[in-house]
Amino acid sequence: MSFPIARPRRLRRTERLRAMVRETRLAPEQLVYPLFVAPGAGRRSEIASLPGCFHLSVDQVAREAEEIERLGIGGVILFGLPSAKDPLGSEGYADDGVVQQAVRAIRAACRDLLVITDVCLCEYTSHGHCGVVEGGEVKNDPTLELLARMAVSHAKAGAHVVAPSDMMDGRVGAIRRALDQSGFADIAILSYAAKYASAFYGPFREAADSAPQFGDRRGYQMDPANVREALKEVRLDVEEGADVVMVKPALPYLDVIRAVRERFDLPVAAYNVSGEYAMVKAAAARGWVDEERLTKEILTSIRRAGADVILTYHAKDFARWTR
Ligand code: PBG
Repeated sequence: MSFPIARPRRLRRTERLRAMVRETRLAPEQLVYPLFVAPGAGRRSEIASLPGCFHLSVDQVAREAEEIERLGIGGVILFGLPSAKDPLGSEGYADDGVVQQAVRAIRAACRDLLVITDVCLCEYTSHGHCGVVEGGEVKNDPTLELLARMAVSHAKAGAHVVAPSDMMDGRVGAIRRALDQSGFADIAILSYAAKYASAFYGPFREAADSAPQFGDRRGYQMDPANVREALKEVRLDVEEGADVVMVKPALPYLDVIRAVRERFDLPVAAYNVSGEYAMVKAAAARGWVDEERLTKEILTSIRRAGADVILTYHAKDFARWTR
């Protein structure tokens, strides 16, 4: 069938028609909003590099979580800024660490908001790397035990899901075993399976104060040029027991999201990272783009590529726009 019989424009005439045949839908419950927990009390300060997002002290975080739950957003992912850093990142797995306290506060305040915790050492280590540093190198195997301890401490505090973002080899298996041995067989692992060494993390590193003090992360995060390697990373994480696999960043890696979606039957998450968000906010502040339309188009494209879940700083704005 071709023109003049075929007229695709017939189905674009009204919003009702367009909505009826729309192929991709996105609801706030599919989104996860990142929160940055900071030490101290009474703190709610806007993060310069992430306009509209805040550093929150433990006493403020529950109120924010209640608002997020009211907006219908699926969950939060927590990042912590410790009061002190050391080479082994010990506040990251302390039972009274900021994230552990924040998890307890949110679980007490919210009925069923999903609480996910980021499991990684970089916010807690004095050198800013995601693992144990020995002789100027990030050591893989000694890091696994610390990550496992962190995951268990998060589970103890009440996290529903733990999300390792460090990119050490074997960490999903190590975390799965530790959780199971500690009585947390029901706690799910969302693994940052294909996490690239990306310049799009810039604003986050300012927000989380987690920039490496020497070198960079290319010795453990992936080369942006690779897609077959992403499939290998995902396969390994699935074999080690991941429940959800994530691709990160999202927008520059839509092809990777699609490739993972087609080859694996687990839920796929995508992290629409800080740099992606900051670009939209910066352009919108100058009046160069329509922020609402741009954001919806971006999030829809990530869904269309195959992501079931999107971690995004736009979650609150999106939820407000779609009410
Ligand atoms: C920690 C971590 C990072 C992000 C999430 N977890 C930073 C990094 O790897 O340097 C980035 C999130 C973002 O940019 O929004 N390893």
